[in-house]
Amino acid sequence: MAKPPSSKDPKARAAWLRGELARHDRLYYVEQRPEITDRDYDGLYRELVDLEAAHPELRTSDSPTQRVGNELKGGFQSVDHKRPMLSLDNTYNEDELRHFDEETVKKRLEKAGVKEAPAYEVELKVDGAAISLWYEKGEFVRGLTRGNGVQGEDITANLRTIRAIPLRLNTGDPPAFIEFRGEVYLARSEFARINKAREEEGLETFANPRNAAAGNLKRKDPKVVAKIGLKFFTHMPGVFEGVEFETQSEYLKQAEAWGLPTVPHRTVCKDIGAVLKYIHEWDTKRRELDFDTDGMVIKVEQLELHTVLGTTSKSPRYAIAFKYKADEVETEVLEIDAKVGKTGVLTPRARFTPVQVAGTTVTYASLHNLSEVERKDIRIGDKVMIEKAGEIIPQVVRVLAEKRGKNVKKWQPPSECPSCGHKLEIRETVHKSKEEQRTVKVLHCANARCPGRYRERIIYFASRGCMDIEDLGEKLIDKLIAEGLVKDPADLYDLTVEKLANLERMAEKSAQNVVERIEASKKMDLAKLLAALNIPMVGARTAEVLAEHFETLEKLREASAEAIEEVEGVGPIVAENIAAFFADAVEKNLVDRLVSAGLNTKSLTAKKRKAAAAAGGAFAGKTFVLTGTLTKYTRDDAEKLIKDRGGKTAGSVSAKTDYVLAGEKAGSKLAKAQKLGVAVIDEAAFEKLLKE
Ligand code: IVH
Repeated sequence: MAKPPSSKDPKARAAWLRGELARHDRLYYVEQRPEITDRDYDGLYRELVDLEAAHPELRTSDSPTQRVGNELKGGFQSVDHKRPMLSLDNTYNEDELRHFDEETVKKRLEKAGVKEAPAYEVELKVDGAAISLWYEKGEFVRGLTRGNGVQGEDITANLRTIRAIPLRLNTGDPPAFIEFRGEVYLARSEFARINKAREEEGLETFANPRNAAAGNLKRKDPKVVAKIGLKFFTHMPGVFEGVEFETQSEYLKQAEAWGLPTVPHRTVCKDIGAVLKYIHEWDTKRRELDFDTDGMVIKVEQLELHTVLGTTSKSPRYAIAFKYKADEVETEVLEIDAKVGKTGVLTPRARFTPVQVAGTTVTYASLHNLSEVERKDIRIGDKVMIEKAGEIIPQVVRVLAEKRGKNVKKWQPPSECPSCGHKLEIRETVHKSKEEQRTVKVLHCANARCPGRYRERIIYFASRGCMDIEDLGEKLIDKLIAEGLVKDPADLYDLTVEKLANLERMAEKSAQNVVERIEASKKMDLAKLLAALNIPMVGARTAEVLAEHFETLEKLREASAEAIEEVEGVGPIVAENIAAFFADAVEKNLVDRLVSAGLNTKSLTAKKRKAAAAAGGAFAGKTFVLTGTLTKYTRDDAEKLIKDRGGKTAGSVSAKTDYVLAGEKAGSKLAKAQKLGVAVIDEAAFEKLLKE
């Protein structure tokens, strides 16, 4: 391989970085054999971001740094599909599928005088949202939802954020035009992660990965969409020009070579017997996949025959879906209890007669909150249907009212906390979703010292978005609590290899790993530590702004509620909560012990920015106010660029403002700047400053 161009030649270096990032995207998403770690990928990416910031003229629209665009104002635009996007007919058993093979396909082909026997290309049917991607001369120019099949919505900006969708085809000789049809979907693991985060933020959770994928594709802010690990695969060509394919498999292979993922599991069968065999094989195997499938799609392999077979008004005759039986299972509610969480809210939970659902034994399901128990009218002794949302999280679909016996009992929520005995209260909280706001009733234990709550706090403290102590899972935490080794997060730092190795089923090597991970967590940024503390109403984002503003834990601890309220984005109630947290004797003790254990209490970002300010430069010590819509940067990115260079940002224009960065449609702030004689710069001037 030729040596990569050095940074002395920025143009060549940028082109090389773009090529490398695209290649690693392909290796990861298409070939599923990554060559580098996420961290190394991020390193290349950051280098390109910095290089382009220093040399904006090198930025191209297909650069991976340009995936995330600005928030959409107004609705999505409706666009006609080049050819209708049909849906598939379904079959549910072997007979129906044989009928399709005999009647729909073979008889028609015979009648049309076709001698050639049809083969079938069979692949998993992935549960996601159907989309269409348009590439002109190899460049991704437009992406549409299926919509009503005739017209879809233009969601190009959101689709650009999906790394599995190449911004340019991997070829020097692209077709004049090609449309890839396929499916955007969400991995189960990612679905679980998103729902957990939403639950923690008090947002309504998504019912399954399909809803989550479809819902996120319709969000107005690509920045938010970019944070969700949506994936994509193509399953059929739409309209194309300047290229030819003989078979469905040839198309899929070509798509892969161009950098578009296809369904990883597929085969070509010479007859319907082989198709059925493959379908049976996957009925069990599909459960181990990290994405939802509800069946198989069977397509005639030869594309020429598609034209002969044609379509009905609703669906093609050359393809059909085979649907696996839905995994809804009947069981009985044996008991309902409630478990305390890290904020003191108790979540009701049903215990069932254990049953197999989608491959695992289900014994419990969350009933979410008191209102949910009332709404579904779930009683102890009821027969219920349960399923797995996204085939992972078990939930009660409905009560079988017709089977309700005389002995069922309404659940009485406990009056005392099952963990600490404290008297419980019923509170109302608001659950927000895009469509509605609902007030729900929740049970709450007001005892901040509740051991059950501490268990959850330790789990949260160690979790990925917080101190990221990878090997410290729930089971181990339970053992540590049971052995009396740990009562709160600070106790983790007193653990030693000897103490851990004494635990049942704990090898010396894993004990060592855990201790090393705990040790490593001491270096985490202050923002992560603040998030990990579980201060009421302080999530990851607030923790970040607090860390940046106060720079050290010490300063934040000493700050009054009024001083905290001065932080942008922190309201009076949150500020009160933070001040009260640090004033509380028990929390104070916890934080003191964390500090003496040697945890980092300084903001690393703030440190970096201070150094930049001290080093001087166009941004050092200057205050910027952003207004209007920027075309090349998101607000967050622009603010970050300013702050990373030692500048500051403010929300309103005053005599202290050095620059107003005005994008398109700038309003009152621009007027005020002009009145006060503050320097106003546009995006081009801003980019010049970045280069200085
Ligand atoms: S082939 C006429 N292959 O299932 C459409 N579709 O109603 C032919 N789907 O909305 C599409 N996995 O988006 C095909 N491997 C697969 C698929 C698949 C999921 C979706 C498709 C369509 C729906 C069928």
